[in-house]
Amino acid sequence: MRSIQQSFSVSYEYPVYFTKGVFEESNDLLKQSLEVREALPKVLFVVDGGVASAHADLISQIQQYAEVHGKVFRMVDAPMIIPGGEACKNDQIHVDRILAAINEHGIDRHSYVVAVGGGAVLDAVGYAASIGHRGIRLIRIPTTVLSQNDSGVGVKNGINAFNKKNFLGSFTVPTAVINDSNFLDTLNIRDWRCGIAEAIKVGLVKDATFFYSIQEHADQLANRDKDLMDQLIYRCAELHIQHIASGDPFEQGSSRPLDFGHWSAHKLEQITEHQLRHGEAVAIGMALDSIYSYLDHHLTQPELLIILSLLRQLGFELYHPSLRDSQLLDGLREFQEHLGGRLTIMLLDAIGSGKEVHRMNSEIIKKSIDVLQDYHNHNSLSA
Ligand SMILES: NC(=O)c1ccc[n+]([C@@H]2O[C@H](COP(=O)([O-])OP(=O)(O)OC[C@H]3O[C@@H](n4cnc5c(N)ncnc54)[C@H](O)[C@@H]3O)[C@@H](O)[C@H]2O)c1
Ligand SMILES: [Zn+2]
Repeated sequence: MRSIQQSFSVSYEYPVYFTKGVFEESNDLLKQSLEVREALPKVLFVVDGGVASAHADLISQIQQYAEVHGKVFRMVDAPMIIPGGEACKNDQIHVDRILAAINEHGIDRHSYVVAVGGGAVLDAVGYAASIGHRGIRLIRIPTTVLSQNDSGVGVKNGINAFNKKNFLGSFTVPTAVINDSNFLDTLNIRDWRCGIAEAIKVGLVKDATFFYSIQEHADQLANRDKDLMDQLIYRCAELHIQHIASGDPFEQGSSRPLDFGHWSAHKLEQITEHQLRHGEAVAIGMALDSIYSYLDHHLTQPELLIILSLLRQLGFELYHPSLRDSQLLDGLREFQEHLGGRLTIMLLDAIGSGKEVHRMNSEIIKKSIDVLQDYHNHNSLSA
């Protein structure tokens, strides 16, 4: 037998900026994120259709920015617009259109794709960029709370296939992420709220102080206090980034500690054909798994009530009839299948303290759904 043992490691680094007015002429962040080599780097912009409609002058602002900074980069075409929301992940045609543009404009590995949009558009564009020429540099400009504090600052991308969330995708590290809080002004209230669910999730699993600071300011956050939201996004993004660097960035193990509440959330999104937004489904999934943690683990009743009432105070509906769908429990298997290895689900021992388990009991899940429905109807706990 002969063998050669290969071994190498690659270190990654990328900045996550927080700014306002990313496409104002005087804002250098995007320009600075582009590396000029022998030739000017080419840039393909791909913009979320919902963002382009809400910001009528965005496309012309990008064009103006490219003109003013024409000595730093070359915009290869007018910004491409793709549908916002889950639609762009549910049909591969949008990825194919981006790949066609990459081909047509000679976008290479020294070029950049700049994605402007919500988490769904960033996922789809990131996936296209990661497979074109085996990886084109990607700059993300997230435009929702959820993408600025969670999805956009990480290393994952993907689209849906075979009726499963994120079935196709890759782990690809972005060149830079630029969070521009001005975009948040035009979010509808559902999308404003959705990102808060992911922040609560990180607080519940990792940082009780952060959780209680969200609780303290829940009314202001629900009423769209911008300064508090900026603080929430910054802290949540920071925790997220630290988590990625400290553990298993490319998820080679069996656990996804930051996916508390997600096994049912992903399934609920699919069962409801994405009538439920990701953040809304996560709020329900966290309520369900918090009740389970109370029934079967160490979470206390007062802590459970704090969690449920905070989610409710923020305006989340915590019960949905699809929780009764017979497919719901498939979510556990699909969650396991996505990573491989042992089923590993994050539950709570306490607020701020996650606890991984390798088994969930279907009877206790059913009981948790009953308790959740009761809480939804009567605002009190029946268990
Ligand atoms: N890659 C990851 O690690 C990761 C993590 C969490 C979630 N996600 C994915 O992110 C997606 C959810 O992202 P999301 O919550 O950002 O929502 P979204 O991308 O689905 O966008 C929701 C809606 O808001 C619109 N929109 C976006 N920005 C806007 C703005 N500034 N003003 C007005 N409208 C705007 C979009 O057009 C869309 O209609 C899901 O597909 C989820 O699976 C990915
Ligand atoms: Zn999520």
